[in-house]
Amino acid sequence: MSRRIFIAGNWKMNLTLSSSLELAGGLKEQLNGTNDVEIAVCPPSIYVQQVAALLKDTNIGVGAQNVYHKDKGAFTGEISVGMLIDAGVKYVILGHSERRHILHEKNEDVNLKILAALSSSLIPIVCVGELLEEREAEATYKVVGEQIEGSFANVSAEDMKKCVIAYEPVWAIGTGKVATPDQAEEVHVFIRNLIEKKYGKDIADSVRIQYGGSVNDENAKEILAKPNVDGALVGGASLKVTQFVKIVKSA
Ligand code: PGA
Repeated sequence: MSRRIFIAGNWKMNLTLSSSLELAGGLKEQLNGTNDVEIAVCPPSIYVQQVAALLKDTNIGVGAQNVYHKDKGAFTGEISVGMLIDAGVKYVILGHSERRHILHEKNEDVNLKILAALSSSLIPIVCVGELLEEREAEATYKVVGEQIEGSFANVSAEDMKKCVIAYEPVWAIGTGKVATPDQAEEVHVFIRNLIEKKYGKDIADSVRIQYGGSVNDENAKEILAKPNVDGALVGGASLKVTQFVKIVKSA
């Protein structure tokens, strides 16, 4: 079993076109050739095409932060899988807690998006995670279990292998309150066991599970050292070249 560490930056709704290109250019300069770690950045959709052009032929992939599940048609404001691929996108973050909680996406919506991405070459990075009150009510496993079950409904074993999961406890996102390495490891093991029950050991062993929530250049190393933590989905700290480079290097 060897899972390649995968560090992805989620830029969320930040930056301008010029600061996006500056950030991507800085990462290209410092990370090109770092081939033992898989690396991606996920700019706002309006910038993905230009960022992807700048990072073309480098080892830094580009992801989107969302997609719509239909191919085309009267869906004002939405973007399809084909459009993302056309723009040079390789990954798509799905079911991020901000989309689940602010934009009311349900597991069923996330599921349709995963199936649409998998019907193409896009690699889904599927986020799951509990709210603080759910953790305090000892409902973490129940919530995360339901998110995994619902989000991955009807995903075949072959397709499951291509998926990346990001465990992002909502109380740790953007709060500076990072989960302890043991807290992260515990939930990652729980998720891996669920995948094993559904898809068998080989697939469970091959699926990468990133941790996300206040990861920075100081805490990354300790979290990434856990055997079931296979990378990180980084928000705030992915907006600074030096910070993101340090996180990648610590992997
Ligand atoms: P954060 O965000 O690193 O700023 O906590 C992580 C995420 O939302 O993916």
